[in-house]
Parts: sequence; C-alpha cells; structure tokens
Amino acid sequence: MTTRTRCDRTQAWSELQASFASTGRAFDLRRAFATDSKRFEALSQSAPQLFADLSKNLIDLPTQQLLFDLARQCGLEQHRQALFAGDIVNPTEQRAAMHWLLRKPPAIPVDNAQEAIKTIASESLQDAARQVQSTLAAMLAYAQRVREDDAITDIVNIGIGGSDLGPQMAVLALEAFASGGRRFHFVSNVDGHELAAVLRAVKPQSTLFLIASKTFTTIETMTNAGSAKAWFLREGGADIARHFVALTTNVAAARAFGIETRFGFWDWVGGRYSVWSAIGLPLAIAIGADGFRSFLAGAHAMDEHFRTSALECNLPVRLALLDLWYRNFHGFTSRSIAPYHSALRRLPAYLQQLEMESNGKRVDVDAQALPYGTAPVLWGEPGTNGQHAYFQMLHQGTDVVPVEFVAVRTPCHDLPAHHELLLANALAQAQALMLGKSDADAHKHFPGNRPSTFLLLDELTPESLGALIALQEHRVFVSGSLWGINSFDQWGVELGKVLAKDLQARLQSADATGLDGSTAGLLARLRS
Ligand code: F6P
Repeated sequence: MTTRTRCDRTQAWSELQASFASTGRAFDLRRAFATDSKRFEALSQSAPQLFADLSKNLIDLPTQQLLFDLARQCGLEQHRQALFAGDIVNPTEQRAAMHWLLRKPPAIPVDNAQEAIKTIASESLQDAARQVQSTLAAMLAYAQRVREDDAITDIVNIGIGGSDLGPQMAVLALEAFASGGRRFHFVSNVDGHELAAVLRAVKPQSTLFLIASKTFTTIETMTNAGSAKAWFLREGGADIARHFVALTTNVAAARAFGIETRFGFWDWVGGRYSVWSAIGLPLAIAIGADGFRSFLAGAHAMDEHFRTSALECNLPVRLALLDLWYRNFHGFTSRSIAPYHSALRRLPAYLQQLEMESNGKRVDVDAQALPYGTAPVLWGEPGTNGQHAYFQMLHQGTDVVPVEFVAVRTPCHDLPAHHELLLANALAQAQALMLGKSDADAHKHFPGNRPSTFLLLDELTPESLGALIALQEHRVFVSGSLWGINSFDQWGVELGKVLAKDLQARLQSADATGLDGSTAGLLARLRS
C-alpha cells in the first residue's frame, strides 16, 4: 500500500498558490520568449517516438520546479512504482491496473532480477505475464488465419466504451498499414440505426462478428450482439462458431451466448486501457501480428520512459503537471485536442473516455470531497476542420482553452503540397494563439497569450501510435495520482444504467408512479 498525499496538503501547493498570485496569473508568453532565448530548449522534451514542445505554455522554470516538488511531495514516484509492481492501485474494486504488462515483451523478465526473494506479488506477476503472452500468441495466430481467409470480407466489432473506442481509433489511425482490403465496421450504440445500417451492408457468409465486452453484460453490446446473431441465423448463416468471436474477461457468459472462439483478458485491464488486450483483435486483423507487436512495442518504450525517467525529463509527468497547473491554478476547465492528421480523427473521442472516465471524480481515495477541480472537459476535431468551426472561440472567446496539437512530420500519401499546408496551419494556429494581434477595432483584436502544446511524431506508425496512447495513459495516471483520486474505477456510469432499466419497463407499462414531473411528462409524450 503506497502512501499518497493529496496535492492540496503539500507545502509545494501553498508555494504554487503564492507563485500564481505573484507571477503566474499575469504570465505572458511573448515576454517569456523575448527574455529567454533558450525557452524552447528548456521546455521541450523528446520521448520514445515523439517530440513535445511545451514552451508555448503559461509556465516558467521556477513554477515548473515547484510542480516537480509537488509531485514528489504527493508520493508520485512511489505510486508509479506501485503501478508497475502490480499493486492494488484501484482500491474501490481491489484491483491492480496492469495494462503496461500487456505490452511488456516476453524476453524481458517480469520481476526485478535483483530481487533475492520472490514475493507473492512477483510470482503472480510472472503468472499474469505468462497468461498475457499465451493469449496474445493465440489471438495473433487467429488474426493471421482471418487475414488469410479470403471468404471473410467484413469485420463487425460490437462493443462500446473501451471495447469500441480503442480498436476503432487505432484501426482508422493505421489504415495505411492495413492489408487485405477487408472492411471494418464498429457498432457501439444501442440505437438500432447503427446496427441496421451495418447489417444492410454485409452478408452472413462473409462477415466476422467480434463481440467485445470486458464484462459481457453491457446492455448495449448484449442487445446488438443478440440482434446480430438473430439476423445471422435469419439470413441463412449457419456456422456461429466460425462467424462469432468473443473478446472478454467473462468467458463463461460468452460460452452461454453460444460463442466458441473466445479470447480472454483479466479484471486488472480497465476497459479504457484494453486496446492492448484481446480487445485489440480488430487492429491485429487489420495490420497483422508484426504490426500489432510494433504497436505494443511503442507503448512499452513509453512505459519504460515513464517508469524510469526522473520527473524532470519525464514527458507524461510534465504534461500532467501542466494539466494540474491549468486546472487548479489558472482555473481552465477544458482542453482541446487537435490532431493534424485525418487518420487520428477518433483520437479526441478516445482521449475523452481516457481522461474523463478516469479522472472525472469528486472524491479522493478516502472518499473525502475534493475542494478543487479534477478532469477537464476534453474535446476536439482534426485540423484544419476545427479551424473553420470552433477555433474562433479559441482565439477570441472569453475562456482560455489550452490546445494540444498532434502533428506528423511525414505523411503516408504522395501529395506533399497538402501536407506542407497542413503543417503550416498547425504551426500557424499555435503561433496565432500565442502571439495574438493588436487591432484598434476590438472585433479584430486577438488577445493572444493562449497556451498550447505541440506533439510531433515523425510518422504515424503502429509504434508511434502505441507510444502516443501510452503517453496519454500515464499522463492521466499522474494527474489522478496528484489529485488523490482513483483513476481506475467508474462508478459514475452506474446510476444511469439502473434508471434506464426501470424506464424501459415503464415505457412498456406506462406506469409513472413515483417519477419526477419532467420524466413522467416525457414518458407520457413518448407513449402517446
Ligand atoms: O459503462 C462504462 C463502461 O464500463 C466503460 O468503462 C467500458 O469501457 C464500457 O462500459 C464497456 O464495458 P464492457 O467492455 O464491459 O462492455
């Protein structure tokens, strides 16, 4: 059990408050660059597969140092160690969070070779690592068989939340690495329009359904899976074993559903951290075993960077400290993510779940109400599209929203002029946000001093995507750690599920007994 100290109970927190009052609030990026010719070097950072320019953020070096102090005083280093030791870091569910183990290559011993005495924990880690490797090998072999099966032209992934967003985001992002010409469909919503549209486009004999659900109880997924199976049988599909696969920790429920091909994972893999597990099967089918292993390798390199680097040169830590500085001192309530690569178009949605389901918490691990804000609202669209939609608000709105640009140096197409224009736009937006533009006409005045981070990948590859996602996971872990919350549970999704069940019955019975006036009124309208 690690000892964690909540950020607001540290000495550094008080010092940061003082620093914010004296210099932080009035910090000006233009002045900072004018007075420090080394600012870019001091506030940029290389990490596996990517480069980060943090210099256009509202921070100076003394403040950054105080934030490192804060992290140390919160016990971040010990908490990080606990994460990688497989300790219980999800206390409300009494679980470890070992998504990092899914990407650890088998050649590297799982426990510390220096350890003279093997603890029970390290033995169980070794056992978990063995299970990971054998499931991975089986899943990749299966993916290979599907890739060689020309009769299968369509893959339909049925899952929601982490069982949808990760594989969907990654399959789209790595489209350039896919071979075989198979079509991938992702059905998540219980809204029948979604499944119906996919079923209109596919044929039973050439479709593989992947039923992806950690729990195998999620109502949306079970409803879609049941309807897909009924459609399959109705349309003359004969071989459920060949056309339905389950990706789940609840292998018994998948068996009861009638699925023979099952790839399991474990309760220590959170849904939003599960793309590295069997949930990643669509990606493995798309890019093959070597591609999927590269995806894992990229993430592993980032794990090692996070696990071993000093806080001062640790990119997930530096990003998370900026997040905390913005949320709790500047009072910014959101962050916009702007991927300047259309293949990353589902990245904002993916990061939304990662950040907001992990850190959207109002009590600390000891169930004490928090006196400060936690997860910001995360949102965004690919550039340059966003520029013609909401960037107006980013430049001239009343709220300051830190922007995170994600750009890729080398494209996977042969239209170099397009890419140059795309990159010029990403740079220009970051520059415009920071520099602003004075104009006597207030409507044309840009205040500037608006912060942004620039993440740059050399190329968008399985490896760099893996590193980018692992970077974001660890950043969320760090901010959650400093905020003193449990980043690995999600009790906030439960109430709506219970109420929906009750209301589904009432939609049939029309019974409005005990309902609030608004819900009763809407129920009556829906029934009329
Ligand atoms: O309802 C929230 C949630 O539990 C997410 O955390 C999860 O990713 C999603 O639902 C899907 O859950 P499952 O994979 O168990 O179907």
